[in-house]
Amino acid sequence: MTLAKICTTLVMACAVTGSAFAAKADKPDKLLFNPDIAQQATLTMPSGEVVNYQAYEGIFYVKNVEDSVYQTLNIYVPENLRNGDSTPIFLRTYIGGYMATTAKSPSASDATGRALKEGYVVCIPGSRGANSTVNRDGKTIYTGTAPNGLLDLKAAIRYLRYNDSRIPGNAEMIIIDGTSAGGAMSALVGSTGDRPEYDEYLRKMGAAATSDKVFASVCYCPITDLNHADMEYEWLYGCTNTGVRHLTEAQIAISDELAAECPAYINSLNLKDDAGNAITADNYKDYLKTFLIASAHKALEEGCEIPDTIGIIRYAEKPNFGGAPGRGGRGDGRGAPSFGPAGAMPGFNNNTDYVTGIDLDKYLSYVASVTALKTPPAFDQYGVLIDTPTPENNVFGNPEGVPANFTDFSLRHRLHDSSAELGKDMVRRVYIMNPMNFISENAASVAPHWFIRHGAKDRDTSFLVPVNLATRLKNSGFDVNFFLPWNRPHSGDYNLDDLFGWIDSIVPNE
Ligand code: DHB
Repeated sequence: MTLAKICTTLVMACAVTGSAFAAKADKPDKLLFNPDIAQQATLTMPSGEVVNYQAYEGIFYVKNVEDSVYQTLNIYVPENLRNGDSTPIFLRTYIGGYMATTAKSPSASDATGRALKEGYVVCIPGSRGANSTVNRDGKTIYTGTAPNGLLDLKAAIRYLRYNDSRIPGNAEMIIIDGTSAGGAMSALVGSTGDRPEYDEYLRKMGAAATSDKVFASVCYCPITDLNHADMEYEWLYGCTNTGVRHLTEAQIAISDELAAECPAYINSLNLKDDAGNAITADNYKDYLKTFLIASAHKALEEGCEIPDTIGIIRYAEKPNFGGAPGRGGRGDGRGAPSFGPAGAMPGFNNNTDYVTGIDLDKYLSYVASVTALKTPPAFDQYGVLIDTPTPENNVFGNPEGVPANFTDFSLRHRLHDSSAELGKDMVRRVYIMNPMNFISENAASVAPHWFIRHGAKDRDTSFLVPVNLATRLKNSGFDVNFFLPWNRPHSGDYNLDDLFGWIDSIVPNE
Protein backbone atom coordinates (compact mmCIF):
# COMPACT_ATOMS: atom_id res chain seq x y z
CA MET A 1 0.00 0.00 0.00
CA THR A 2 1.35 3.49 -0.86
CA LEU A 3 1.90 6.05 1.90
CA ALA A 4 -0.85 8.26 0.48
CA LYS A 5 -3.23 5.33 0.45
CA ILE A 6 -2.36 4.36 4.03
CA CYS A 7 -3.07 7.95 5.18
CA THR A 8 -6.36 8.03 3.30
CA THR A 9 -7.33 4.68 4.76
CA LEU A 10 -6.53 5.85 8.29
CA VAL A 11 -8.49 9.07 7.87
CA MET A 12 -11.42 7.11 6.50
CA ALA A 13 -11.26 4.60 9.33
CA CYS A 14 -11.37 7.45 11.86
CA ALA A 15 -14.22 9.15 10.08
CA VAL A 16 -16.29 6.00 9.74
CA THR A 17 -15.75 4.43 13.13
CA GLY A 18 -15.03 7.49 15.28
CA SER A 19 -12.23 5.23 16.45
CA ALA A 20 -9.51 5.49 19.05
CA PHE A 21 -7.33 7.59 16.76
CA ALA A 22 -9.93 10.31 16.41
CA ALA A 23 -10.69 10.38 20.13
CA LYS A 24 -7.02 10.52 21.06
CA ALA A 25 -6.56 13.82 19.28
CA ASP A 26 -8.58 15.72 21.88
CA LYS A 27 -8.86 13.63 25.05
CA PRO A 28 -7.80 10.14 26.02
CA ASP A 29 -10.19 7.44 24.95
CA LYS A 30 -11.37 5.84 28.19
CA LEU A 31 -12.67 2.82 26.32
CA LEU A 32 -9.40 1.90 24.65
CA PHE A 33 -8.17 -1.58 25.63
CA ASN A 34 -4.71 -1.53 27.18
CA PRO A 35 -2.82 -4.76 26.45
CA ASP A 36 -0.06 -3.81 28.91
CA ILE A 37 -2.12 -4.92 31.92
CA ALA A 38 -1.71 -8.57 30.92
CA GLN A 39 -0.79 -10.99 33.72
CA GLN A 40 0.28 -14.59 33.20
CA ALA A 41 -1.91 -17.10 35.01
CA THR A 42 -2.71 -20.81 35.07
CA LEU A 43 -5.81 -22.85 35.73
CA THR A 44 -5.62 -26.48 36.79
CA MET A 45 -8.54 -28.48 35.43
CA PRO A 46 -10.09 -31.39 37.42
CA SER A 47 -8.18 -33.76 35.10
CA GLY A 48 -4.90 -32.20 36.25
CA GLU A 49 -4.38 -30.49 32.90
CA VAL A 50 -2.88 -27.04 33.31
CA VAL A 51 -4.16 -24.23 31.10
CA ASN A 52 -1.86 -21.23 30.65
CA TYR A 53 -3.51 -17.94 29.88
CA GLN A 54 -3.15 -14.18 29.95
CA ALA A 55 -5.47 -12.23 32.24
CA TYR A 56 -6.65 -8.66 31.66
CA GLU A 57 -8.64 -7.66 34.70
CA GLY A 58 -10.57 -4.78 36.21
CA ILE A 59 -11.37 -3.01 32.95
CA PHE A 60 -14.09 -0.35 33.08
CA TYR A 61 -16.42 -0.85 30.13
CA VAL A 62 -18.30 2.46 30.23
CA LYS A 63 -17.02 6.03 30.28
CA ASN A 64 -19.41 7.22 32.99
CA VAL A 65 -18.88 4.63 35.69
CA GLU A 66 -21.60 4.81 38.33
CA ASP A 67 -20.58 1.79 40.37
CA SER A 68 -16.86 1.04 40.25
CA VAL A 69 -17.32 -2.23 42.15
CA TYR A 70 -19.41 -3.83 39.45
CA GLN A 71 -18.96 -2.08 36.11
CA THR A 72 -15.75 -3.81 35.15
CA LEU A 73 -14.90 -6.83 33.06
CA ASN A 74 -12.12 -9.38 32.91
CA ILE A 75 -10.72 -10.96 29.77
CA TYR A 76 -8.82 -14.24 29.63
CA VAL A 77 -6.86 -15.38 26.61
CA PRO A 78 -5.60 -18.96 26.57
CA GLU A 79 -2.11 -19.68 25.32
CA ASN A 80 -3.47 -22.12 22.76
CA LEU A 81 -6.05 -19.97 21.06
CA ARG A 82 -8.41 -22.25 19.21
CA ASN A 83 -8.56 -20.35 15.99
CA GLY A 84 -6.23 -17.35 16.17
CA ASP A 85 -7.99 -14.04 15.95
CA SER A 86 -11.15 -15.74 14.66
CA THR A 87 -11.61 -17.48 18.02
CA PRO A 88 -15.08 -16.95 19.51
CA ILE A 89 -15.40 -15.16 22.84
CA PHE A 90 -17.25 -17.03 25.60
CA LEU A 91 -18.91 -14.45 27.84
CA ARG A 92 -20.21 -15.78 31.14
CA THR A 93 -22.49 -13.69 33.35
CA TYR A 94 -22.63 -14.68 37.02
CA ILE A 95 -25.83 -12.76 37.66
CA GLY A 96 -27.98 -14.81 40.04
CA GLY A 97 -31.16 -13.80 41.82
CA TYR A 98 -31.13 -10.55 39.82
CA MET A 99 -28.30 -9.47 42.14
CA ALA A 100 -25.13 -7.58 41.31
CA THR A 101 -22.02 -9.56 40.48
CA THR A 102 -18.38 -8.58 40.31
CA ALA A 103 -16.20 -9.54 37.37
CA LYS A 104 -14.81 -12.98 38.13
CA SER A 105 -11.91 -15.19 37.07
CA PRO A 106 -12.33 -18.53 35.30
CA SER A 107 -13.35 -21.54 37.37
CA ALA A 108 -12.12 -25.04 36.60
CA SER A 109 -15.51 -26.38 37.66
CA ASP A 110 -17.78 -24.50 35.27
CA ALA A 111 -18.08 -23.49 31.64
CA THR A 112 -15.49 -20.69 31.95
CA GLY A 113 -12.64 -23.10 32.74
CA ARG A 114 -13.82 -25.49 30.08
CA ALA A 115 -14.00 -22.67 27.52
CA LEU A 116 -10.46 -21.63 28.34
CA LYS A 117 -9.24 -25.21 28.08
CA GLU A 118 -10.97 -25.52 24.69
CA GLY A 119 -9.03 -22.46 23.51
CA TYR A 120 -11.82 -19.87 23.58
CA VAL A 121 -11.29 -16.31 24.75
CA VAL A 122 -13.27 -15.83 27.97
CA CYS A 123 -14.85 -12.60 29.21
CA ILE A 124 -16.48 -12.33 32.63
CA PRO A 125 -18.13 -8.97 33.23
CA GLY A 126 -19.46 -7.66 36.49
CA SER A 127 -22.82 -5.91 36.48
CA ARG A 128 -25.10 -3.96 38.77
CA GLY A 129 -28.12 -5.68 40.32
CA ALA A 130 -30.92 -5.47 42.86
CA ASN A 131 -28.50 -5.17 45.82
CA SER A 132 -25.83 -2.82 44.45
CA THR A 133 -25.65 0.60 46.06
CA VAL A 134 -23.52 3.71 46.07
CA ASN A 135 -23.48 6.53 48.55
CA ARG A 136 -24.43 9.87 47.04
CA ASP A 137 -24.61 13.00 49.22
CA GLY A 138 -24.98 10.81 52.28
CA LYS A 139 -27.83 8.85 50.73
CA THR A 140 -27.86 5.20 49.69
CA ILE A 141 -28.73 4.87 46.01
CA TYR A 142 -29.64 1.53 44.46
CA THR A 143 -27.77 1.37 41.17
CA GLY A 144 -28.93 -1.94 39.74
CA THR A 145 -32.66 -1.59 39.26
CA ALA A 146 -33.96 -2.93 35.93
CA PRO A 147 -32.78 -2.63 33.24
CA ASN A 148 -29.32 -1.64 34.54
CA GLY A 149 -27.87 -5.15 34.88
CA LEU A 150 -28.80 -5.83 31.27
CA LEU A 151 -27.39 -2.49 30.15
CA ASP A 152 -24.09 -3.37 31.80
CA LEU A 153 -23.87 -6.60 29.84
CA LYS A 154 -24.66 -4.78 26.63
CA ALA A 155 -22.01 -2.18 27.43
CA ALA A 156 -19.46 -4.95 28.10
CA ILE A 157 -20.26 -6.51 24.71
CA ARG A 158 -19.89 -3.13 23.02
CA TYR A 159 -16.51 -2.73 24.72
CA LEU A 160 -15.33 -6.04 23.24
CA ARG A 161 -16.54 -5.09 19.79
CA TYR A 162 -15.11 -1.56 19.99
CA ASN A 163 -11.73 -3.07 20.80
CA ASP A 164 -12.05 -6.04 18.49
CA SER A 165 -8.84 -5.23 16.63
CA ARG A 166 -6.91 -4.93 19.91
CA ILE A 167 -8.30 -7.88 21.91
CA PRO A 168 -7.54 -11.44 20.77
CA GLY A 169 -10.60 -13.28 19.54
CA ASN A 170 -13.54 -12.29 17.37
CA ALA A 171 -16.18 -9.98 18.86
CA GLU A 172 -18.52 -10.93 16.01
CA MET A 173 -18.63 -14.39 17.59
CA ILE A 174 -19.67 -13.77 21.20
CA ILE A 175 -21.39 -16.64 22.97
CA ILE A 176 -23.13 -15.49 26.14
CA ASP A 177 -23.87 -17.98 28.94
CA GLY A 178 -25.90 -17.51 32.12
CA THR A 179 -28.02 -19.41 34.63
CA SER A 180 -31.40 -18.52 36.15
CA ALA A 181 -31.60 -14.70 36.37
CA GLY A 182 -28.33 -14.90 34.43
CA GLY A 183 -30.10 -17.17 31.93
CA ALA A 184 -32.77 -14.49 31.60
CA MET A 185 -30.04 -11.94 30.93
CA SER A 186 -28.48 -14.24 28.36
CA ALA A 187 -31.89 -14.51 26.66
CA LEU A 188 -32.28 -10.72 26.74
CA VAL A 189 -28.82 -10.04 25.36
CA GLY A 190 -29.45 -12.72 22.75
CA SER A 191 -32.74 -11.23 21.60
CA THR A 192 -32.24 -7.47 21.84
CA GLY A 193 -28.98 -6.79 19.97
CA ASP A 194 -28.88 -3.17 18.79
CA ARG A 195 -32.53 -2.59 19.64
CA PRO A 196 -33.17 1.18 19.82
CA GLU A 197 -35.10 0.85 23.10
CA TYR A 198 -31.78 0.68 24.99
CA ASP A 199 -29.82 3.31 23.05
CA GLU A 200 -30.48 6.35 25.17
CA TYR A 201 -29.55 4.54 28.40
CA LEU A 202 -26.35 3.21 26.86
CA ARG A 203 -25.42 6.60 25.49
CA LYS A 204 -25.83 8.17 28.93
CA MET A 205 -23.67 5.48 30.50
CA GLY A 206 -20.91 6.23 28.03
CA ALA A 207 -21.01 2.79 26.45
CA ALA A 208 -19.06 2.41 23.20
CA ALA A 209 -21.08 3.55 20.20
CA THR A 210 -21.12 0.21 18.44
CA SER A 211 -23.17 -2.96 18.08
CA ASP A 212 -24.20 -5.15 21.04
CA LYS A 213 -25.38 -8.14 19.02
CA VAL A 214 -24.17 -11.61 19.92
CA PHE A 215 -23.66 -14.77 17.93
CA ALA A 216 -25.13 -17.27 20.37
CA SER A 217 -27.06 -17.36 23.62
CA VAL A 218 -26.78 -20.12 26.21
CA CYS A 219 -29.65 -20.00 28.70
CA TYR A 220 -29.80 -22.37 31.66
CA CYS A 221 -33.16 -22.24 33.44
CA PRO A 222 -33.93 -18.67 32.42
CA ILE A 223 -36.16 -16.90 34.95
CA THR A 224 -37.79 -14.72 32.36
CA ASP A 225 -41.12 -13.59 30.85
CA LEU A 226 -41.57 -12.13 34.33
CA ASN A 227 -44.85 -10.35 33.65
CA HIS A 228 -46.51 -13.64 32.65
CA ALA A 229 -44.56 -16.01 34.89
CA ASP A 230 -47.12 -15.88 37.73
CA MET A 231 -50.04 -16.97 35.56
CA GLU A 232 -47.86 -19.60 33.86
CA TYR A 233 -46.87 -21.01 37.23
CA GLU A 234 -50.42 -21.29 38.55
CA TRP A 235 -51.88 -22.61 35.30
CA LEU A 236 -49.36 -25.45 35.40
CA TYR A 237 -49.07 -26.20 39.11
CA GLY A 238 -52.67 -25.41 40.15
CA CYS A 239 -53.31 -29.17 40.07
CA THR A 240 -51.20 -29.50 43.22
CA ASN A 241 -52.91 -26.72 45.22
CA THR A 242 -54.97 -28.95 47.48
CA GLY A 243 -52.48 -31.80 47.36
CA VAL A 244 -48.77 -31.60 47.91
CA ARG A 245 -48.77 -27.80 47.79
CA HIS A 246 -51.12 -27.42 50.78
CA LEU A 247 -52.30 -23.93 49.90
CA THR A 248 -54.62 -21.91 52.10
CA GLU A 249 -57.99 -20.79 50.79
CA ALA A 250 -56.67 -17.28 50.19
CA GLN A 251 -53.71 -18.65 48.24
CA ILE A 252 -55.97 -20.90 46.18
CA ALA A 253 -58.12 -17.90 45.28
CA ILE A 254 -55.05 -16.02 43.99
CA SER A 255 -53.79 -19.12 42.20
CA ASP A 256 -57.14 -19.63 40.44
CA GLU A 257 -57.36 -15.99 39.45
CA LEU A 258 -53.87 -16.05 37.96
CA ALA A 259 -54.36 -19.39 36.20
CA ALA A 260 -57.49 -18.05 34.53
CA GLU A 261 -55.42 -15.38 32.78
CA CYS A 262 -53.00 -17.86 31.23
CA PRO A 263 -54.97 -19.40 28.33
CA ALA A 264 -55.43 -16.02 26.65
CA TYR A 265 -51.70 -15.40 26.97
CA ILE A 266 -50.80 -18.82 25.55
CA ASN A 267 -53.16 -18.28 22.63
CA SER A 268 -51.76 -14.81 21.99
CA LEU A 269 -48.32 -16.29 21.33
CA ASN A 270 -49.49 -18.11 18.18
CA LEU A 271 -46.95 -20.87 18.70
CA LYS A 272 -46.55 -23.84 16.39
CA ASP A 273 -45.07 -27.26 16.94
CA ASP A 274 -42.37 -28.70 14.67
CA ALA A 275 -45.02 -30.03 12.29
CA GLY A 276 -46.59 -26.58 11.98
CA ASN A 277 -49.68 -27.34 14.09
CA ALA A 278 -51.04 -24.49 16.18
CA ILE A 279 -50.34 -24.78 19.91
CA THR A 280 -53.18 -23.38 21.96
CA ALA A 281 -54.14 -23.49 25.61
CA ASP A 282 -56.25 -26.55 24.74
CA ASN A 283 -53.37 -28.70 23.46
CA TYR A 284 -50.46 -26.99 25.24
CA LYS A 285 -50.11 -29.65 27.92
CA ASP A 286 -49.76 -32.35 25.25
CA TYR A 287 -47.03 -30.25 23.67
CA LEU A 288 -45.24 -29.89 27.01
CA LYS A 289 -45.52 -33.63 27.54
CA THR A 290 -43.50 -34.28 24.38
CA PHE A 291 -40.50 -32.54 25.98
CA LEU A 292 -40.85 -34.37 29.29
CA ILE A 293 -41.29 -37.70 27.50
CA ALA A 294 -38.18 -37.04 25.40
CA SER A 295 -36.31 -36.31 28.62
CA ALA A 296 -37.47 -39.53 30.29
CA HIS A 297 -36.63 -41.50 27.15
CA LYS A 298 -33.09 -40.21 27.10
CA ALA A 299 -32.64 -40.92 30.79
CA LEU A 300 -33.77 -44.51 30.31
CA GLU A 301 -31.47 -44.89 27.36
CA GLU A 302 -28.61 -43.73 29.51
CA GLY A 303 -29.43 -46.29 32.16
CA CYS A 304 -31.44 -44.24 34.64
CA GLU A 305 -34.00 -45.87 36.89
CA ILE A 306 -37.32 -44.02 36.83
CA PRO A 307 -39.70 -44.94 39.64
CA ASP A 308 -43.13 -46.21 38.65
CA THR A 309 -44.81 -43.71 40.94
CA ILE A 310 -44.08 -40.35 39.35
CA GLY A 311 -46.36 -40.37 36.35
CA ILE A 312 -44.10 -41.64 33.60
CA ILE A 313 -46.25 -44.15 31.70
CA ARG A 314 -44.48 -47.08 30.11
CA TYR A 315 -45.77 -49.63 27.71
CA ALA A 316 -46.40 -52.14 30.47
CA GLU A 317 -48.84 -49.86 32.21
CA LYS A 318 -50.87 -49.33 29.08
CA PRO A 319 -53.84 -51.57 28.49
CA ASN A 320 -54.24 -53.75 25.38
CA PHE A 321 -50.61 -54.63 25.02
CA GLY A 322 -51.36 -58.17 26.06
CA GLY A 323 -48.68 -60.42 27.47
CA ALA A 324 -47.53 -60.53 31.04
CA PRO A 325 -48.29 -57.59 33.31
CA GLY A 326 -45.64 -55.50 34.97
CA ARG A 327 -42.36 -54.37 33.58
CA GLY A 328 -41.51 -57.55 31.83
CA GLY A 329 -43.80 -58.51 29.01
CA ARG A 330 -45.18 -56.58 26.15
CA GLY A 331 -46.67 -59.59 24.45
CA ASP A 332 -45.24 -58.80 21.07
CA GLY A 333 -42.62 -61.48 21.09
CA ARG A 334 -39.70 -59.16 21.43
CA GLY A 335 -39.09 -60.04 25.05
CA ALA A 336 -38.66 -57.86 28.07
CA PRO A 337 -36.98 -54.53 27.63
CA SER A 338 -34.02 -53.58 29.73
CA PHE A 339 -33.68 -50.58 32.00
CA GLY A 340 -30.06 -50.48 30.99
CA PRO A 341 -28.34 -48.47 28.28
CA ALA A 342 -29.75 -48.47 24.78
CA GLY A 343 -28.86 -51.54 22.85
CA ALA A 344 -28.77 -53.77 25.91
CA MET A 345 -31.69 -55.68 24.45
CA PRO A 346 -31.27 -56.43 20.77
CA GLY A 347 -34.30 -55.35 18.78
CA PHE A 348 -35.68 -53.15 21.51
CA ASN A 349 -35.54 -49.44 21.00
CA ASN A 350 -35.92 -47.68 24.32
CA ASN A 351 -36.11 -44.39 22.58
CA THR A 352 -39.27 -45.10 20.65
CA ASP A 353 -40.83 -47.98 22.46
CA TYR A 354 -40.45 -47.32 26.08
CA VAL A 355 -42.25 -44.27 27.44
CA THR A 356 -45.74 -44.05 26.09
CA GLY A 357 -47.01 -41.06 27.98
CA ILE A 358 -46.97 -39.03 31.11
CA ASP A 359 -49.61 -38.38 33.73
CA LEU A 360 -48.80 -34.70 33.95
CA ASP A 361 -50.62 -33.95 37.20
CA LYS A 362 -48.86 -36.85 38.88
CA TYR A 363 -45.49 -35.79 37.50
CA LEU A 364 -46.01 -32.16 38.61
CA SER A 365 -46.93 -33.36 42.10
CA TYR A 366 -43.68 -35.29 42.10
CA VAL A 367 -41.73 -32.15 41.09
CA ALA A 368 -43.49 -30.22 43.87
CA SER A 369 -42.66 -32.95 46.37
CA VAL A 370 -38.93 -32.70 45.61
CA THR A 371 -38.73 -28.93 46.17
CA ALA A 372 -41.67 -27.06 47.68
CA LEU A 373 -43.34 -24.82 45.11
CA LYS A 374 -43.35 -21.06 45.37
CA THR A 375 -46.57 -19.69 46.82
CA PRO A 376 -48.82 -17.55 44.60
CA PRO A 377 -47.96 -15.15 43.13
CA ALA A 378 -44.60 -16.81 42.55
CA PHE A 379 -42.80 -13.72 41.24
CA ASP A 380 -44.76 -10.50 41.73
CA GLN A 381 -45.50 -11.39 45.33
CA TYR A 382 -44.95 -8.05 47.04
CA GLY A 383 -48.03 -6.88 48.93
CA VAL A 384 -50.45 -9.47 47.54
CA LEU A 385 -50.75 -11.98 50.37
CA ILE A 386 -47.48 -11.12 52.10
CA ASP A 387 -45.36 -8.00 52.14
CA THR A 388 -42.05 -9.71 51.46
CA PRO A 389 -40.63 -8.67 48.09
CA THR A 390 -39.10 -11.23 45.75
CA PRO A 391 -35.80 -10.59 43.92
CA GLU A 392 -37.96 -9.54 40.97
CA ASN A 393 -39.87 -6.97 43.08
CA ASN A 394 -36.52 -5.58 44.19
CA VAL A 395 -34.99 -5.37 40.74
CA PHE A 396 -38.06 -3.46 39.53
CA GLY A 397 -37.78 -1.20 42.59
CA ASN A 398 -36.61 2.39 42.60
CA PRO A 399 -33.19 3.94 43.36
CA GLU A 400 -34.25 4.47 46.98
CA GLY A 401 -34.57 0.71 47.36
CA VAL A 402 -38.38 0.57 47.51
CA PRO A 403 -39.61 -2.64 45.84
CA ALA A 404 -42.30 -2.46 43.17
CA ASN A 405 -44.97 -4.53 41.50
CA PHE A 406 -44.45 -5.24 37.85
CA THR A 407 -47.87 -6.66 36.94
CA ASP A 408 -51.26 -4.98 37.06
CA PHE A 409 -52.54 -8.12 38.79
CA SER A 410 -50.36 -7.77 41.86
CA LEU A 411 -50.52 -3.98 41.94
CA ARG A 412 -54.32 -4.18 42.06
CA HIS A 413 -54.25 -6.69 44.87
CA ARG A 414 -51.70 -4.73 46.87
CA LEU A 415 -53.61 -1.47 46.53
CA HIS A 416 -57.06 -3.09 46.75
CA ASP A 417 -57.96 -1.13 43.67
CA SER A 418 -59.26 -3.15 40.74
CA SER A 419 -58.58 -0.34 38.27
CA ALA A 420 -54.97 0.39 39.31
CA GLU A 421 -52.43 0.21 36.50
CA LEU A 422 -48.65 0.24 36.31
CA GLY A 423 -47.21 3.63 35.43
CA LYS A 424 -45.85 4.31 31.97
CA ASP A 425 -42.25 4.08 33.11
CA MET A 426 -42.79 0.69 34.75
CA VAL A 427 -44.61 -0.62 31.68
CA ARG A 428 -41.59 0.35 29.58
CA ARG A 429 -39.09 -1.21 32.00
CA VAL A 430 -41.05 -4.46 32.14
CA TYR A 431 -41.29 -4.50 28.34
CA ILE A 432 -37.57 -4.11 27.77
CA MET A 433 -36.82 -6.81 30.35
CA ASN A 434 -38.79 -9.46 28.47
CA PRO A 435 -37.04 -11.23 25.58
CA MET A 436 -40.38 -12.54 24.26
CA ASN A 437 -41.16 -9.01 23.03
CA PHE A 438 -38.20 -8.97 20.66
CA ILE A 439 -38.33 -12.37 19.01
CA SER A 440 -40.08 -12.37 15.67
CA GLU A 441 -39.46 -13.89 12.27
CA ASN A 442 -35.79 -13.47 11.36
CA ALA A 443 -35.52 -10.38 13.60
CA ALA A 444 -32.11 -8.73 13.15
CA SER A 445 -31.74 -8.20 16.91
CA VAL A 446 -31.81 -11.93 17.64
CA ALA A 447 -28.72 -14.14 17.88
CA PRO A 448 -28.77 -16.90 15.24
CA HIS A 449 -27.95 -19.73 17.69
CA TRP A 450 -29.60 -20.75 20.98
CA PHE A 451 -28.91 -23.43 23.59
CA ILE A 452 -31.67 -23.59 26.21
CA ARG A 453 -31.84 -26.00 29.13
CA HIS A 454 -34.33 -26.25 32.00
CA GLY A 455 -34.16 -29.18 34.42
CA ALA A 456 -37.09 -31.61 34.31
CA LYS A 457 -37.57 -31.15 38.07
CA ASP A 458 -36.78 -27.42 38.22
CA ARG A 459 -39.73 -25.62 39.81
CA ASP A 460 -38.24 -22.14 40.05
CA THR A 461 -40.42 -21.13 37.14
CA SER A 462 -43.08 -22.89 35.10
CA PHE A 463 -41.99 -25.18 32.25
CA LEU A 464 -44.00 -22.86 30.03
CA VAL A 465 -41.32 -20.18 30.28
CA PRO A 466 -38.44 -22.05 28.59
CA VAL A 467 -40.82 -23.96 26.28
CA ASN A 468 -42.39 -20.72 25.01
CA LEU A 469 -39.00 -19.06 24.60
CA ALA A 470 -37.57 -22.01 22.64
CA THR A 471 -40.70 -22.42 20.54
CA ARG A 472 -40.99 -18.75 19.66
CA LEU A 473 -37.33 -18.73 18.63
CA LYS A 474 -37.76 -21.85 16.52
CA ASN A 475 -40.96 -20.54 14.95
CA SER A 476 -39.09 -17.33 14.10
CA GLY A 477 -36.43 -19.20 12.12
CA PHE A 478 -33.57 -19.40 14.62
CA ASP A 479 -31.34 -22.36 15.42
CA VAL A 480 -32.48 -23.73 18.79
CA ASN A 481 -31.11 -26.63 20.81
CA PHE A 482 -33.64 -27.13 23.61
CA PHE A 483 -33.96 -29.88 26.19
CA LEU A 484 -35.37 -30.52 29.67
CA PRO A 485 -32.63 -32.70 31.21
CA TRP A 486 -34.01 -35.47 33.36
CA ASN A 487 -33.82 -35.26 37.15
CA ARG A 488 -32.21 -31.83 37.00
CA PRO A 489 -33.13 -29.22 39.60
CA HIS A 490 -32.54 -25.48 39.18
CA SER A 491 -28.91 -25.33 38.06
CA GLY A 492 -26.58 -24.44 35.20
CA ASP A 493 -23.30 -25.12 33.42
CA TYR A 494 -23.83 -28.89 33.64
CA ASN A 495 -23.11 -31.54 31.03
CA LEU A 496 -20.37 -29.42 29.52
CA ASP A 497 -19.59 -32.04 26.86
CA ASP A 498 -23.07 -31.40 25.52
CA LEU A 499 -22.64 -27.61 25.62
CA PHE A 500 -19.18 -27.51 24.08
CA GLY A 501 -20.11 -30.11 21.47
CA TRP A 502 -22.92 -27.80 20.45
CA ILE A 503 -20.63 -24.75 20.42
CA ASP A 504 -18.21 -26.68 18.24
CA SER A 505 -21.06 -27.42 15.84
CA ILE A 506 -22.08 -23.75 15.40
CA VAL A 507 -18.59 -22.30 15.12
CA PRO A 508 -17.28 -22.34 11.56
CA ASN A 509 -14.14 -24.45 11.28
CA GLU A 510 -11.47 -22.64 9.40
C1 DHB B 1 -33.20 -16.95 40.62
C2 DHB B 1 -34.05 -17.94 41.08
C3 DHB B 1 -35.38 -17.66 41.24
O1 DHB B 1 -36.26 -18.59 41.69
C4 DHB B 1 -35.87 -16.37 40.96
O2 DHB B 1 -37.17 -16.12 41.13
C5 DHB B 1 -35.01 -15.40 40.47
C6 DHB B 1 -33.67 -15.69 40.31
C7 DHB B 1 -31.75 -17.26 40.44
O3 DHB B 1 -31.30 -18.32 40.91
O4 DHB B 1 -31.05 -16.46 39.81
